[in-house]
Amino acid sequence: MSASPVDTVAERLSGISVQAHSNPYRRFEWTSGPDRRLPAKSEALLSLADHPVLATLSEEQRWRLGLAEMGHFFSLNIAGERELLMGLASRLERGASPAVSGYLHHFLEEENAHMAVFAQFCRRYVGKIYPARQMRLPRTYLPGEEEFLFFAQILIFEEIAAWVNRKLAGDSALWPIVRQINEYHATEEARHLVFGRAVAEDLWAASSKDWGDVECRRIGAYLRSYTRVTLRGYIDPAVYTDVGIKGDVFALRDEALASPSWLRFEDQATRRLRAVWSALGILE
Ligand SMILES: [Fe+2]
Ligand SMILES: [Fe+2]
Repeated sequence: MSASPVDTVAERLSGISVQAHSNPYRRFEWTSGPDRRLPAKSEALLSLADHPVLATLSEEQRWRLGLAEMGHFFSLNIAGERELLMGLASRLERGASPAVSGYLHHFLEEENAHMAVFAQFCRRYVGKIYPARQMRLPRTYLPGEEEFLFFAQILIFEEIAAWVNRKLAGDSALWPIVRQINEYHATEEARHLVFGRAVAEDLWAASSKDWGDVECRRIGAYLRSYTRVTLRGYIDPAVYTDVGIKGDVFALRDEALASPSWLRFEDQATRRLRAVWSALGILE
């Protein structure tokens, strides 16, 4: 019997994970404090990049905004990866082929290390990990739907985060350790994305024909709203409070979400996702 497309992808990715394996705990030169001469986040990616409030901030506050948003981005990743770890761990032996199970071990190990690196950055330089704002409501699923949505949601979370990672890794103006962490993460996430796309395609192909058009459209609409909620989570009013911005920080968050630079970011960071869904016919 020939290997399934997902098994073939899983075996190839396992080989790369073994080859590329390095010690993430010795990879970075952690300094005792943040580098105050260099920004921690690209100015163009600040949530307030084209909001008039930015011009009212002192140099020091702008620098702190970049650092706090970087810490918040890493905190989002910690929260997302924690969910992912639990979900992947429960799938290790449950119906997974030996090839997929083998790759899940690498996936878990890599995500665990990412969380440790992000937490180190947050504790050392930001002084906190921003708490996740997630709420999950109990609901019922069609046969196969929960499994598809689990991998589709991972794909949404990882595609958006990896887009940000690539942007920050490529910004030579930034504090080197920020670039290095983003580069490290982008490289490993590229493999997770290949796997996630293959699994999502496989699960969609296996189940969607039984779901019918109406249900497929409903699932497509759910993915769109999940993407919107994920993107919205990128701006946390607590960050504004932490850098000393006065006034209604919740209203400021909503204004930032509607600003041209933010809408451009949302469009660019989800372009690849839209291509994946439209190749499957999900968002038609
Ligand atoms: Fe990760
Ligand atoms: Fe990942």
